[in-house]
Amino acid sequence: MTRHFLRDDDLSPAEQSEILDLAVRLKGDRFSEKPLAGPQTVAVIFDKSSTRTRVSFAVGVADLGGSPLIISTANSQLGGKETPADTARVLERMVAAIVWRTYAQSGLEEMANGTTVPVVNALSDEFHPCQLLADLLTIREHRGALAGLTVAFLGDGGSNMAQSYLLACAVAGMNIRIGAPIDYEPKQHVVDEAFAIAERTGGSVAVLADPIAAVGGADVVVTDTWVSMGREDEKAERIAALGSYKVTPELMTHAAEDALFLHCLPADRGYEVDASVIDGPQSVIWDEAENRLHAQKALLVWLLRQQGA
Ligand code: CP
Ligand code: NVA
Repeated sequence: MTRHFLRDDDLSPAEQSEILDLAVRLKGDRFSEKPLAGPQTVAVIFDKSSTRTRVSFAVGVADLGGSPLIISTANSQLGGKETPADTARVLERMVAAIVWRTYAQSGLEEMANGTTVPVVNALSDEFHPCQLLADLLTIREHRGALAGLTVAFLGDGGSNMAQSYLLACAVAGMNIRIGAPIDYEPKQHVVDEAFAIAERTGGSVAVLADPIAAVGGADVVVTDTWVSMGREDEKAERIAALGSYKVTPELMTHAAEDALFLHCLPADRGYEVDASVIDGPQSVIWDEAENRLHAQKALLVWLLRQQGA
């Protein structure tokens, strides 16, 4: 059966770990796997802007011996005249996999249900699971084993990043705390799903209104823009609501002394994080950005192997 990667919990703990192991190997020996030799094509579709995702998938597919086809939805029939399911039926006749950055998670589900090739979520309004593979790889590189580490995500708890942190950390057996104000909490169904996974993996899940309690003793502190793509109209109210969740040097003093700082980028310095933190010694954002390449290559290799299984 075709495997897709639409949410972080589409991978079991063992599968997530296997992909991270593969990413480490590919990072050390970048051109060692050529599952797309031919070359076969991977379609990478964007409804929203991107720098890291676009470049890392384009370079990653080429590294694997394949040919990336970058499509802007604005210049395609998808989103206008054609449904995700019909688009997928056409693409699967020509490409090895489909990667899609979009708005509603339901569009990704429709595309995945309608096709025999793997579909990868390159960011939706609900989740950003490729970013989380890169973030977990980065944390592993700097801290060793993931299980048992405590991660604090500050800011917009309903964002794709916060919700992916909930699921991915639960799968990894980590302790995930979201620090977010009322009306900016994660969706309850995502919290419930993360909680159920954490019960099996030995992790834990907490959603806290107090930013200091969320960060207390954490091994990793994470934030993301307060104004995700598609939310630009809410900018003023978001800045007002989320101000006390800014990651400042003072807030970092409540985390573990050697806590890492992560941010998926792009960042709004002075809003969700002070420049002295994101550009300071605890920040690993450039490793995190590079790891998009290695983590997504590992994901593609793994998904294509399942096709042959
Ligand atoms: N972090 C991330 O997904 O960046 P882009 O929007 O540039 O792809
Ligand atoms: N939460 C952000 C992530 C950008 C990579 C957004 O959706 O815009």
